[in-house]
Amino acid sequence: MTETEKFDVVISGGRLIDGSGAPARDMDVAISGDRIAAVATPENASHWWGDLSIDASDRVLAPGFIDVHTHDDNAVLDTPTMPAKLSQGVTTVIVGNCGISLAPINNIDPPPPLNLLGGRDRFRFDNMADYLAAVEETRPSVNVAALVGHGTLRVGAMDDLTKVANASEIEVMREKLAVSLEAGAIGMSTGLYYKTSAAASTEEVIALAKVVGAAGGIYTTHMRNEADNIITSLEETQTTGQQAKVPVVISHHKCSQPENWGRSGETLAFIEEARNSTTIGLDAYPYSASSTVLDPDWVNDRIRVMITTSKPHPEATGRDLADLAEEWDLSLKEAAVKLSPAGAIYFQIDEDDVQRILAYPPTMIGSDGLPHDEHPHPRLWGTFPRVLGHYCRDLGIFDLETAVHKMTGLPAQTFGLADRGVVREGAYADLVVFNAEKVQDMATFEKPLQQSKGIDYVFVNGTLSLMLGNLCPDRAGQVVRNI
Ligand code: ZN
Ligand code: CU
Repeated sequence: MTETEKFDVVISGGRLIDGSGAPARDMDVAISGDRIAAVATPENASHWWGDLSIDASDRVLAPGFIDVHTHDDNAVLDTPTMPAKLSQGVTTVIVGNCGISLAPINNIDPPPPLNLLGGRDRFRFDNMADYLAAVEETRPSVNVAALVGHGTLRVGAMDDLTKVANASEIEVMREKLAVSLEAGAIGMSTGLYYKTSAAASTEEVIALAKVVGAAGGIYTTHMRNEADNIITSLEETQTTGQQAKVPVVISHHKCSQPENWGRSGETLAFIEEARNSTTIGLDAYPYSASSTVLDPDWVNDRIRVMITTSKPHPEATGRDLADLAEEWDLSLKEAAVKLSPAGAIYFQIDEDDVQRILAYPPTMIGSDGLPHDEHPHPRLWGTFPRVLGHYCRDLGIFDLETAVHKMTGLPAQTFGLADRGVVREGAYADLVVFNAEKVQDMATFEKPLQQSKGIDYVFVNGTLSLMLGNLCPDRAGQVVRNI
């Protein structure tokens, strides 16, 4: 007779999808402390005993999902229970995307799009070390890895954002970036599309990206153009990666505006070719609408625009810009000016492009959720279950192992998150147990604040954090540093 082997937690009876893309297998998993202590067949695990045992029969057991594209910099401090993410099975968020990070900057009135993270009172971290220490002290329910935003660096270093940075401004930014990476940031993001950063030259970006490359970090980019000039922007992205010797991630890849619908065949062919000589990855969210700040220059009568938040007109949230403009007897642009500062959803993406991009093997999943909007884009609450349910199970654009890999092993590898995104002995016990038949996003454009279905249990660093869809009291997120 075999002696009993004791663990903190034993999860048994489930189908294990380990995050590597390998086929599902019937495997039991044991946790001790914050790590996976053992992985074994049910037969070999029959003598296991856990202080807590979870029955995962008819369920899938997978690594916790990694949301590679978030704007949760402030949310992890203000709403540390992180229900929008935990309820999707997300156990790690990468913050600081699109050139927008909470640190290192202090005492400013955040210009758009920095105001996506909140107002003046939220920008209070002179340096990345202080921000990461605040995250550690707050201990949110999910792990946090931080990027330094190029937009944030520019706002902190430059008087006139409509210009290319001069040599001394670049030096200030390089220094702040290096110190931030030293403190544990995992890389830098740009948002060259935005007015805070559009004036930056490729050379300015390369000068900074070199600091990231030298530190072994990653460079993510909301490209200068995702519409007519998307190929030029892809070329710029590739050049930056090559010259700075840094791995690159194209953020929320899409082809914007009706005249560019269908061009993902062309853009993915470019990326495929570029991958022969450059380390380039990409992420995408599973929706045919984008969301960011409302800018009067970005509205036109060819696409629907919905208001997600408005400082002067909170009553307008959830409504269409076209309806408001008609009521006010204003043009779309005039109505947008009247609503600003504001946020919006832009229905500017083709569904065929969404599917083609999601199905492209190197594409990772990132929500790009905006947690401070009153009526947010549904991607905030629905991204991961939507990929697993709608796109994987219902439309069959890829198998479940591939879907899980895109949200676990692939991002962990790309962003250098050691011992995460995979189920194996010794890895962190970030785990999700879900019902593959029932998993489904519930958030919609009309009703965006709805919890997804089918996510049963979530463990973060070995701590049970979500049980039968309900948040647990213990929060166990850690800061994931660049090592
Ligand atoms: Zn972006
Ligand atoms: Cu973003």
